[in-house]
Amino acid sequence: MSALVVVGAQWGDEGKGKVIDFLSQQADVVVRHQGGNNAGHTVVVNDQEFKLHLVPSGILYPNTWCVIANGVVIDPKVLLDELAYLQDRGVDIGRLRISSKAHVVMPYHARLDALNEERRGQQKIGTTLRGIGPAYMDKAARVGLRIGDLLHPEEFRDRLGDVLEEKNHVLTRAYGAQPFSFDQLYRTFVDYGSSLRPYVADTSLLINQAIDRGDKVLFEGAQGTMLDIDHGTYPFVTSSHPSSGGAAIGAGVGPTKIDRVVGVAKAYATRVGDGPFPTELQDALGEEIRERGHEYGTTTGRPRRVGWLDAVVLRYAVRINGLSGLALTRLDVLDGLDTLKIATAYRYQGHTLKEFPDTAWEFRDVEPLYETLAGWDSSIGSTRRREELPRQAQQYIERIESVVGVPVVLVSVGRERSHTIPLDDLF
Ligand code: GDP
Ligand code: IMO
Ligand code: MG
Repeated sequence: MSALVVVGAQWGDEGKGKVIDFLSQQADVVVRHQGGNNAGHTVVVNDQEFKLHLVPSGILYPNTWCVIANGVVIDPKVLLDELAYLQDRGVDIGRLRISSKAHVVMPYHARLDALNEERRGQQKIGTTLRGIGPAYMDKAARVGLRIGDLLHPEEFRDRLGDVLEEKNHVLTRAYGAQPFSFDQLYRTFVDYGSSLRPYVADTSLLINQAIDRGDKVLFEGAQGTMLDIDHGTYPFVTSSHPSSGGAAIGAGVGPTKIDRVVGVAKAYATRVGDGPFPTELQDALGEEIRERGHEYGTTTGRPRRVGWLDAVVLRYAVRINGLSGLALTRLDVLDGLDTLKIATAYRYQGHTLKEFPDTAWEFRDVEPLYETLAGWDSSIGSTRRREELPRQAQQYIERIESVVGVPVVLVSVGRERSHTIPLDDLF
């Protein structure tokens, strides 16, 4: 097995960073292929916590190459700060490569993100305010600036001049906001270009060569299937393709080169930001799970909304991504709960829905139909084998496999790299 794609199967923050770090011990190359610094991936090794927003979670291994591919939108300041943070902590960043085709998140993108959200008021999406939507808008509108442009100051001058004229027009005329200074942006971004130059490469070529050599290549999804711009809970989504198809486009790899896709799912569900969430627990139990699980956003610190596991969502994630298995994380957070619930279907206008609804208004109004299972009363953090888990935890996993229809291929029982029960040789 050479190319493995790992995606979020819910609304993001499933523990992808932890799972990718664990799998990276076997990987030769780890690739980030979509999203930007709206992502926050946490890796914990020997009690040291690393929060990564743009750099792939494979960076902590000394021999693994890491790639930020064309589908990512890069805020160069955030990336340079992240590289400095990693270097300060003794991590070698010399094996990082960045696509010249990746789009740049500019300061006007973040400003427009905030202004758009303000304008939407009650209808806001609850974005991370990192400028991700406006950066992808410019990419689609063919007025985006790319990392490669920063390396060519003369051309960059012309392109920035053009784009900034339009952005400043919108900022001042439509929003009554302050314009950006061309000279300041130009100088700052040419400097960023010089700092990033050593890492810039044709990353599609590198990744394809690695796959053709038989190297093990791991694709690290950001966000989650339900935030996919096509297949998620539109308009409460991000502006990229967190589902597995995004890996092919976002890395410049043909879909035929991808061998396997695994979805990361929490043993319950969370969502940060606005939008429908049928299994949400808006009660003391939801609060309790949020506190035990420290469910606060890695990027924005916002409290995450918490709910029961939704198997309808997971079956949909299996379909949209072609998942062959689930990596089930945070099972330990459920320690000590008397009973657990899994939504196996929805009720909508008197009908039972087994499939994820096709329209946003149906999904907004569904009522989950739950199965109740027994919880376990011991703490499972030190367990390293499936058979050693309490009987009820094993039954919970078996029930998930049965209602979702794919095997659980890895169980995570804690934040640390070592708190992991691998059940299948994924590569
Ligand atoms: P990502 O965005 O999918 O990479 O997930 P985040 O890093 O934003 O959030 C997941 C959080 O859960 C992080 O703080 C991880 O350290 C933590 N985590 C991951 N797996 C486990 C687990 O099995 N148990 C517990 N208790 N925490 C976990
Ligand atoms: P990781 O990779 C959870 C959510 C935001 C908001 C919506 C749109 O850590 O799982 P955006 O800033 O992308 O325009 O916001 O998407 N969101 C995430 N939620 N985890 C993430 O990334 C997210 N990235 C974006 O909260 O609801
Ligand atoms: Mg996260």
